[in-house]
Amino acid sequence: MRLFSVYLSALILVVASLSGCGQQEAGSETIASEQANVAGSPGEELYKKHCAVCHDSGASEAPTKAAIQLGGIESIRAALTSGVMKEQAAMLTPIEIRILADHLADPTAENALANADKNRCEGTLSLSKPLWNRWGNSKRNVRFQPSVNAGISAVELPNLKLKWAFGFPGAARARSQPAVTQEAIFTGSQSGLFYALDTKTGCVWWTFEAEAEVRNAPTISTDAKGIAKTLYIGDFDANVYAVDAATGTLIWMRSVKDHPAGTITGSLTLHQGRLYVPMSSMEIVNAYSSEYECCNFRGGVAALDAKTGDPVWRFYTVDEAQKVGTNSEGTQNYGPSGAPVWSTPTVDAKRGLLYVGTGENYSSPANDKSDAIIALHLDTGAVKWVQQTIAGDAWNAACGREARPNCPKEDGPDFDFGAPPILTKLANGDDIILAGQKSGMIYAMDPAQNGKILWQKRAGMGGFNGGVHWGMATDGKTLFVGIADTPGNRFATGPARQGMHAYDLQSGTPLWSKLEPDVCEEMVHKCRTALSAPPTIMPGVIFAGALNGILRAYSSDGGEILWTRDTRREFATVNGIDARGGSIDSGGPVVAGGLLIVNSGYDKFGQIPGNVMLVYGIE
Ligand code: HEC
Repeated sequence: MRLFSVYLSALILVVASLSGCGQQEAGSETIASEQANVAGSPGEELYKKHCAVCHDSGASEAPTKAAIQLGGIESIRAALTSGVMKEQAAMLTPIEIRILADHLADPTAENALANADKNRCEGTLSLSKPLWNRWGNSKRNVRFQPSVNAGISAVELPNLKLKWAFGFPGAARARSQPAVTQEAIFTGSQSGLFYALDTKTGCVWWTFEAEAEVRNAPTISTDAKGIAKTLYIGDFDANVYAVDAATGTLIWMRSVKDHPAGTITGSLTLHQGRLYVPMSSMEIVNAYSSEYECCNFRGGVAALDAKTGDPVWRFYTVDEAQKVGTNSEGTQNYGPSGAPVWSTPTVDAKRGLLYVGTGENYSSPANDKSDAIIALHLDTGAVKWVQQTIAGDAWNAACGREARPNCPKEDGPDFDFGAPPILTKLANGDDIILAGQKSGMIYAMDPAQNGKILWQKRAGMGGFNGGVHWGMATDGKTLFVGIADTPGNRFATGPARQGMHAYDLQSGTPLWSKLEPDVCEEMVHKCRTALSAPPTIMPGVIFAGALNGILRAYSSDGGEILWTRDTRREFATVNGIDARGGSIDSGGPVVAGGLLIVNSGYDKFGQIPGNVMLVYGIE
């Protein structure tokens, strides 16, 4: 119940901070003020002065204050001294940081490391083949699961029931999409603990302690017999790890950080003994402060030797940033910068190419590699071609402020490719690349003609969380597109089209749409039907989770809703941790070995926090 009341106040804070308060929330104000920390205390004063501007409103990706509290004192302190908030806390003395952390933390929040040993398995883990591997279940990022690995068929869906739930201690989000073998589910977490859980019981086979949050999906290498061998993950501090999949023992670790704000969000791509690491950063948030010398992060890809972690090549989407004058408060500015790679790269083995999608520039002048699909030579990282679908996109968190000293003159539209390009084959055997953008546009590109656009369609109106945010999926005939269309981006075009949409691969002809408009008008995430997380398909069925926590199975033939669960509630967990589902975002559902697995809870952008992994199976 304690957790529940904190979540409740998280919701109230979101509601209270935005206009158009809903009727049902109005009576809850007393709870909010009881929960609120004593006004006028030194901690609250510091919070108001340095933190509230982002954390009271959920602006520029920030979690709400109530979501922060769930992390516990250690994680708040770590965020301020060495983590995500280092830049935002730079002006604070060590004592002020202590005061703030003590003030913000819920003293009873679960400590991740103290809880790591709960519910350990007996015996030793012996692995077989990966059944779901990598972010897109293939190097082509199709997100398709064949029947043989799914172990569930469409007719069995009525018997798909919750088997067990696992709670992530010290977490307000659960966004690392799992990888699965018959024996184990591998997933990262916000505390930095990485878990191997037993598929049947959810007991913990091993944990591995990364230095920072693991946001991505693990990539598993296999031995000559196809048995799972080494697991590769990246953390929020831009460290790459190779870990023994059976034991959790570290094989090597390598930092690929070359900027103080550098981070790894997307999953690693493994191909022929080499790892391709997508590079993004938090500098987009640092830019918020007018004293910050915005910006000089360079997005790109780092290629590493998978055996040793040794660097092989590095590709940057922008050259070294140059001085470009000062902002209105006299702070030096640099540019161009940014064009991060948020998602996992896609391999075209036939052409020896790697395809990546890029985001916007952080500072002016916008260059020719932002908001683009870029083809790189696997061997060297040299650019083969660039297909930029939106030119002149530069944006950062300062653009959301009233005074906007560091906002670049382009001021948007912030229409990244957050989803990786999909590579698949048409019925006639020709390869095709499919790319979905936060603008709401989807594109088919020809890899045989340097990415020439074959067709394009508007699937959604676009928004800061998409349009297409984290992904699409295909079974080789149809392209399935989840649309988020959260309001608020002035560049949005046309009506919102939240829901699932199907397109013919060859022609781009729309086949069907299952529109699910937001059910209430307020800016409240519990009402958001937005499909921001990527969909996943198996024969006949598409699985997708929404920002309101609803998890659905759609018929791939017509979009009929076959199965629904509301994950936005409390769950009893096998490891005894208080856990709750919330927004489903960033990682998608995974179907493997007769199980449907989804991580629920996502605190960023003021969405609904949560810390649970849900494992459904056929009864
Ligand atoms: C310019 C906006 C901004 C300001 C100012 C700011 N934050 Fe944040 N904060 C963010 C964003 C955005 C995130 C989410 C980062 C992410 O996870 O990608 C975040 C995340 C956090 C987290 C979670 C860390 C984690 O591990 O996920 C904590 C704790 C936090 N902030 C505390 C603070 C405190 C305390 C202050 C005041 C000293 C502060 N922040 C000021 C934007 C801000």
